[in-house]
Amino acid sequence: MTLSTSAAASSTSSTSPLPAATAEPPAPVDILLKHRFPKRYRHPTLDAQLTRQRLTSEARALVRCAKAGVRVPGLRLVDVKQGCLGMEWIEGWSVREILGGGQEDDLTSDDDEDERVEDVGNDLGKMHTADIIHGDLTTSNMMVRLRTGDSAGANAPPFEVVLIDFGLSSASPMHEDRAVDLYVLERAFSSTHPVAPGGRAHFDLVLEGYREALERAPKKGEWDRVWKRLEEVRMRGRKRSMVG
Ligand SMILES: Nc1ncnc2c1ncn2[C@@H]1O[C@H](COP(=O)(O)OP(=O)(O)O)[C@@H](O)[C@H]1O
Ligand SMILES: [Mg+2]
Repeated sequence: MTLSTSAAASSTSSTSPLPAATAEPPAPVDILLKHRFPKRYRHPTLDAQLTRQRLTSEARALVRCAKAGVRVPGLRLVDVKQGCLGMEWIEGWSVREILGGGQEDDLTSDDDEDERVEDVGNDLGKMHTADIIHGDLTTSNMMVRLRTGDSAGANAPPFEVVLIDFGLSSASPMHEDRAVDLYVLERAFSSTHPVAPGGRAHFDLVLEGYREALERAPKKGEWDRVWKRLEEVRMRGRKRSMVG
């Protein structure tokens, strides 16, 4: 996959009249173009099918997440034929970069960081409530950016986390799928981001935010069901790692 940015004029509705010649042109906005190159090692028909599938899954999930109030890049362009997706450019860093790769001097923790990690859990809860499974929840697939003007309330924290990379996403209301999604993230946190002494485990914070989101959802008892499943998935994971 290749990523590139390009400055594109911000879109105006096709039904709106053309701006007067004297009006200021719309400010350019950066978009990210995600292009999946054909893989030579795959059969061309299968490759084309997979590319199309991932692209449409990603586009669909971005739209559904945005509707559910999950922070994701805005979708700007879909070209299935070229295997190309255009989305809002997120100016920032991945959570992986922010949390560090587990070096000694990365072991810092502060309340603000804890709150952002909890926000991630909240967004994941909203995402799952909208029946979207991410499919690849790692800290590289979460970006942190500075909040901009209108998204920042008076007391809003300066940073926010945006979920990206929905190419492996799917639509499912199953508790099992939700639990596996969470388990993948738990593994990602524990393998690359050890906790600062006295700090709280990142995944515990995620679960706190997640639980809140599920308890706010109209359907009751969802948190208990997902939690129970997560325990089962963890058990299976432990058994598998013991067998090798
Ligand atoms: N909307 C975006 N804005 C800015 N950077 C992005 C955006 N989407 C992806 N990236 C960057 O590109 C990297 C790879 O993109 P991603 O969608 O995760 O594809 P891949 O399937 O290769 O992991 C990300 O880890 C991130 O650093
Ligand atoms: Mg990725």
